Amino acid sequence: MAAGLGTRMKSKKAKVLHQLDGRPLVNHVVEAALALDPNSVCVIVGHQAEEVKAAVNAEFADERVCFAIQEKQLGTGDAINATRELYEDRDSTVVVLTGDVPLITSETIRSLIDHHKGEEAAATLLAVKLDDPTGYGRVVRENGQFARIVEQKDATEDERLIEDINAGFYCFDSRKLFAALGRLGNNNAQGEYYLTDIPGIFKSEGEKVSIYVAPDHQEVEGVNDRRQLAALEQALRDRTVKRLMLESGVTFVDPSSAYISSRAVIGRDTVIYQNATVEGSTTIGENCVIHPGVRVVNSTIGDGVEVKDNSFVTDSVVGDGCAVGPMAHLRGHAEMVEGSKVGNFVELKKTKLGRKSKASHLTYLGDATIGENTNIGAGTITCNYDGKNKHRTQIGNRVKIGSDTMLVAPITVGDGAVTAAGSVATHDIEADTLVAGVPAKVKKVLSVGGDRVTPERPPRTKLTPEESVERTESFGERKEQFIASIKKSKD
Ligand code: UD1
Ligand code: MG
Repeated sequence: MAAGLGTRMKSKKAKVLHQLDGRPLVNHVVEAALALDPNSVCVIVGHQAEEVKAAVNAEFADERVCFAIQEKQLGTGDAINATRELYEDRDSTVVVLTGDVPLITSETIRSLIDHHKGEEAAATLLAVKLDDPTGYGRVVRENGQFARIVEQKDATEDERLIEDINAGFYCFDSRKLFAALGRLGNNNAQGEYYLTDIPGIFKSEGEKVSIYVAPDHQEVEGVNDRRQLAALEQALRDRTVKRLMLESGVTFVDPSSAYISSRAVIGRDTVIYQNATVEGSTTIGENCVIHPGVRVVNSTIGDGVEVKDNSFVTDSVVGDGCAVGPMAHLRGHAEMVEGSKVGNFVELKKTKLGRKSKASHLTYLGDATIGENTNIGAGTITCNYDGKNKHRTQIGNRVKIGSDTMLVAPITVGDGAVTAAGSVATHDIEADTLVAGVPAKVKKVLSVGGDRVTPERPPRTKLTPEESVERTESFGERKEQFIASIKKSKD
């Protein structure tokens, strides 16, 4: 059930789209459902149906996932009615899952199903005892037997003292469920068709209703407001960090301030400092150091990598023994090959930095491939965008890009080439040449066939005194003309 608005969230966004552990609430429940190997998982959508569908489809490309539309949100009973065509005529067990209870595990649902089948009940509900049951439906028993579920808003003062709550997970005999749905009324505090009235209807008709008590109360806590969302986020985070410490051998300098996705895999003896964030499906190897303020999203980091303070690595791969940051930015499938290094204020986008190559300071490398043992000087920029299109830069092995070089793409820099500081390279640079200037021109050939060479300089011709005077005068004249033209343009 994922069709409701979620009024208590005070949000323009449907409640089930709010994120926990970086994923929409509804996807946590769909994942638990799919793990049960069901014939189908039907997501009931209504409020912001298209957005909810898109969120589910974005994560699960699974033929078993389908959708039913609840046109108007008239209550959880009405929501299930929206699946009538799909399940009414089947001799099967329908398991109902509540879309705003994201920590539910497939193991618990499996136990609920086993209990339901073992008891041969018409309906089985998942219940749990809560110290503070406020807001939940209460499980009312009479003579120790299930009698009915009563919602918080409809409960008497005595009923509100009941600590056993309805978790929002049920097994039903399919045919009996849809027959009873037709008999639901909405004469209650919220004027809704409550699914929670169905077990009571069953009971009054002599059908067997069973209760399965969940082993872990945290698992069945629902998200109805943002305070509960934050509480679950923290609970999940604590669980993840504890697991990584105890089972994976990861050191957390301050476990309370580490934000680690439950899907992250982190290797032995890696140290994670305070305020580090690891999101999505990220893998971090062994013996890494993740310094304070680092954020790693959907990336793979090898063994023995040091990511220094406040770096941001997203959708990228960092090889073994690399060093990143401080304050570096890797994105758009950047790849650092083993032993390479990026330093402060370096951005890599869709760029491969070869083995043992370095870009240590103030550099943008976008749409580039860089070979091995190459050094990218401070302030280098691959000028990859001409205002319309992106172009690639190809840099070879053992290249030395001088400080403040602009590489105007598309451009190829051959192996062993050198650019002087401040060069603006607009054309390909041959291997083993030194270029300088704006635009960059070849100043030296550094090697021929692997042998280093010192090129012969053309002999300097000395000017005669007359020639020298002539040059100076012509320069003076040009200067006068230039000043005059500027003055004119100012007028
Ligand atoms: C519901 C139960 C309550 C239980 C609690 C557990 C009912 C009447 N009450 O209350 O007994 O203790 O869950 O968390 O079922 N939804 C629809 N269509 C609708 C209304 C709701 O699809 O017309 C969906 C919502 O998107 C949500 C779920 O059903 O995912 C539960 O709705 P919510 O309004 O949160 O019910 P609760 O008040 O939490
Ligand atoms: Mg709820």
